[in-house]
Amino acid sequence: MTPHAFLLAVALLLVGVLPFTACGGTVHFYDFILKETNFTRLCMTKPIMTVNDSFPGPVIRARRGDTVYVNVVNQGDYGLTLHWHGVRQPRNPWSDGPEHITQCAIQPSTNFTYEINFTEEEGTLWWHAHSDWTRATVHGTIVVLPAEGTNYPFPEPDGEEVIVLGSWYEGNLNQMVSEELREGLSLPQSVGYLINGYPGDLIVECTMRQTYRWVVQYGKTYLIRLVTAVLDAEVFFAIAGHNLTIVAMDGAYIKPLVTPYITASPGRTMDILFTADQTPGLYYMASREHQSQDIGITGFDHSNGTAILEYQGNYSSSVTPLFPDNLPAYRDFKASEIFMGQIRSLASPEHPVDVPLDITTRMFIVVSMNVIYCLDGCEKGFKILSTLTNVSWLDPPVDILKAYYWNISGIYGDFPDYPPTWYNFTGDYFEQSIVVTRQGTKVKVLHFNDTVELIFQGTNVLYGSMNHPIHLHGQSFYVLGSGYGNFNNETDPLNFNLVDPPKLNTYPVPKLGWVAVRFRADNPGVWFMHCHLEHHQSWGMDGVFIVLNGDTEETSMRPPPPGMPSCSSWAIPFEFIDNDGNNDAS
Ligand code: C2O
Ligand code: CU
Repeated sequence: MTPHAFLLAVALLLVGVLPFTACGGTVHFYDFILKETNFTRLCMTKPIMTVNDSFPGPVIRARRGDTVYVNVVNQGDYGLTLHWHGVRQPRNPWSDGPEHITQCAIQPSTNFTYEINFTEEEGTLWWHAHSDWTRATVHGTIVVLPAEGTNYPFPEPDGEEVIVLGSWYEGNLNQMVSEELREGLSLPQSVGYLINGYPGDLIVECTMRQTYRWVVQYGKTYLIRLVTAVLDAEVFFAIAGHNLTIVAMDGAYIKPLVTPYITASPGRTMDILFTADQTPGLYYMASREHQSQDIGITGFDHSNGTAILEYQGNYSSSVTPLFPDNLPAYRDFKASEIFMGQIRSLASPEHPVDVPLDITTRMFIVVSMNVIYCLDGCEKGFKILSTLTNVSWLDPPVDILKAYYWNISGIYGDFPDYPPTWYNFTGDYFEQSIVVTRQGTKVKVLHFNDTVELIFQGTNVLYGSMNHPIHLHGQSFYVLGSGYGNFNNETDPLNFNLVDPPKLNTYPVPKLGWVAVRFRADNPGVWFMHCHLEHHQSWGMDGVFIVLNGDTEETSMRPPPPGMPSCSSWAIPFEFIDNDGNNDAS
């Protein structure tokens, strides 16, 4: 038995008993029981999938350097997977979680134990379901404290507060999604924004008061651990009368950023210092949609999700809390541009940046809405799809990681480095050949240690331009720059920030604009990349990187852990799969 296998065996014997120290870090164990539980929100009672009966789900706490085992027991009636958003998982894509990419679903009445390795991340991250739209209710916070013997790069706060921004949907979400995907014209919209699971008392449709309250003491400073678990929209968030000081984003420290509000894409996490220094009283915290679609699109969720910040003690306060006048309006692009433009890595000796300067691999990825004619008779004869470089992702019958590891051919083809045609991406007129797209399962293969630059270019095809929060698994990227219009490959790189660019795992490609990111491909494995707006992910705005092994064991993927869920679709006879390596739908 290898030392690692031995430790694992001991670890599994001790499940649920105690955390213990191994290899410098502590090992923790969690049991996540997934099942449907009735919850009432916005005057609707419905069963939702939950972890350990809680919504939002439980908080995972660990230190940098620790390992966490999460035993997922599926007591629900459909298959699902979990993902540890923003955790690098070195050499361990097996526990990353996205269905069809690194595993098949954990079927009802079965379990699977994920191993989560915290190595470089520090601060707040989160976990969520990564199958269907189950993450609407299956999500929770991950707190990664500094490694044993080290401290925050800011004064120790007096207290801590977790704030999870969420959204609420009517009906049976997964069922509605699968029906609407068949017609391909629209997908469900949220009916309310939530803070720590509650909509707050400004909801007009429902008189039931369900409001989260956070009690603070005057003069104290708290560390807010904020998770944007909203399913399908970007949001603004603010606390009335108070500024926020952001000190970390996506599990990496940034230069302290003082701001009256924040803009957050789905997936974004932040560590925020908050000082209770205003006149003691009641203050609303509020989140609302940041809507970047065409101005003609008005049918979005206009609700304000609220919670109440309450100063402890005796004071005369008005009965109604103050609403944040610092919360930007739905379409306030300037507000989000200003906010995003201020983010800089801490770039200190303890937390340095390592921006790749010599680039081996450049890709220009076009991020767009498109259509496809449906031959299987959908109502309008065409469907809306979302694409990366004119390919709309098609889920393979076997997950990409298995296909790669076991050398199963015919499952995926090559993702292009450049679009097949160059056009005025942010213009107003598009050839039919640009508007109509194809489906495929295309993967970009990188060599170990490749230095990669990705330019994401948004388009105005179908007047569908909007912000696309692109998320990469397996590593964060440095965001060098971003702008409006078409990327200019001569002038725009001159303004790249190579000194202290933020290191993030998600970044919105701005409406009618572009963003440039870089990373070093030093984490061998299979890593998903997708728009974190759920409807775009479902419509195919997805891609995969395979990072090949290096020359040594330490630079190679680990072998699969025991008990990987099996794929029922392995039963699909291979002659029914287009075997040219492209998987193009007819
Ligand atoms: Cu937040 Cu692919 O994940
Ligand atoms: Cu998108």
